[in-house]
Amino acid sequence: MKVLIASSNSHKIREIKSLLKKFNAEVFSLSDFPSISEIPETGSTLEENALLKAKAYHLSTGMTVIADDTGLFVDALNGNPGVYSARFAGKNATYEINCDKLIAELKLRNLDFSNAYFKTVICYLENENNYKFFEGMIEGKVITQKLGYGGFGYDPVFVPKGFVKTFAELTENEKNEISHRGQAIKKFMSYLESL
Ligand code: IMP
Repeated sequence: MKVLIASSNSHKIREIKSLLKKFNAEVFSLSDFPSISEIPETGSTLEENALLKAKAYHLSTGMTVIADDTGLFVDALNGNPGVYSARFAGKNATYEINCDKLIAELKLRNLDFSNAYFKTVICYLENENNYKFFEGMIEGKVITQKLGYGGFGYDPVFVPKGFVKTFAELTENEKNEISHRGQAIKKFMSYLESL
């Protein structure tokens, strides 16, 4: 089986590749196809984005595709940034600038924190008519200071429920064990094992 991971994020690719080892799959990523241009995430939900990426990359490569989309949903911001998490502070915003914008939005509302959750949706698509979704989510809160240096994205401002540390203060293993993406991947792996 040839599988394409619809990502050029080396972190994600490494994680999924190592999990897929036992399934004897030949695993590719977008880095193996530099001529294919990136698909814009124009959907209004994580599911839509994961599916539209999976369909488009399947069309251009003919391979089975694993595509995912993740968002941070903040209660005090009516669920924003949600599907717009990557570009919260603008099209080319860095992780740091997005965190700063989130902190500024909370402070604007005189808040020190807000409940929030991360959600990941993975789409596993064998062909146009045969695809499945796997999701994972983790509840917690976002805070108005950046703590820790691990992880990426909003990790320095997100404290998972039941913890006193941010994701960025946990080790990679500790985070993967409980994270939205970790949970979605676990469900996906159970599905592959059941085939
Ligand atoms: P993507 O769909 O995985 O590219 O995620 C979209 C955006 O959500 C990223 O640009 C990050 O800002 C944020 N994000 C995704 N996963 C995580 C995570 O595990 N921790 C913190 N931020 C994340």
